[in-house]
Amino acid sequence: MTDDLFAAQGFCAVPLFDPETVRAARDDIAEQVDRVARALYMPFEHSLPDVPVGDRLDRIAAAERSHASLLRVAICTDAHRGPRLTALAESPALLETASRLAGGPIAGSIRRVRASIAAFPEHRHDWHSDVAIDDGTNCGRVRVTAWMPLGDAGPEDGGLELVPGRRSAPFEHRRGDGFAIPEETLAGLPRVRPVCPAGTVLFLDRFTPHRTLPVAGAARFALVIWFKAG
Ligand SMILES: [Fe+2]
Repeated sequence: MTDDLFAAQGFCAVPLFDPETVRAARDDIAEQVDRVARALYMPFEHSLPDVPVGDRLDRIAAAERSHASLLRVAICTDAHRGPRLTALAESPALLETASRLAGGPIAGSIRRVRASIAAFPEHRHDWHSDVAIDDGTNCGRVRVTAWMPLGDAGPEDGGLELVPGRRSAPFEHRRGDGFAIPEETLAGLPRVRPVCPAGTVLFLDRFTPHRTLPVAGAARFALVIWFKAG
């Protein structure tokens, strides 16, 4: 059923993990913030270590935006190397599902944490597919993306919006401020905003257009894994 949905729609949501295990992986993010905040001249207390990590960067940004900005980059650069996130990324169930949906063995992957934070709306991703140019180069070898929110994510809390449908080529992306599919290209096409509770992984085909929806409250963190074919 899952595989049929993926083959037809270019995405599927699969409950794979215990929700509490996934929520607990946010501690890797809090620890990353602590570690980087301790390395600065800025007193550690200014990083608000007692505030829950979902609210922490918004609160820091209200006082010192550049401080929060640096911590956000640190999260997106290598928080994924934390032990809890590593365990999730290396789970056999995840790899097995990705390889089945990709239709063949996985030769490698790239991992990152992605953060949607109300104070930094400029970092929300506009419409794109994870393979934008199908030229067989490094990025072009991505077959399937696993998007795993570290909490409940949906239309109201920083989920994704997708244009369903399996495609054999990417929509054309336009270079501007970023690299995105123009809104008019997607006009009239159906869109879905999947509800993705903690523990569920959203798998996307390489050519499925998606974008980040705004987050109004606590930050939404997600572990993203781009699985590549050989
Ligand atoms: Fe993406």
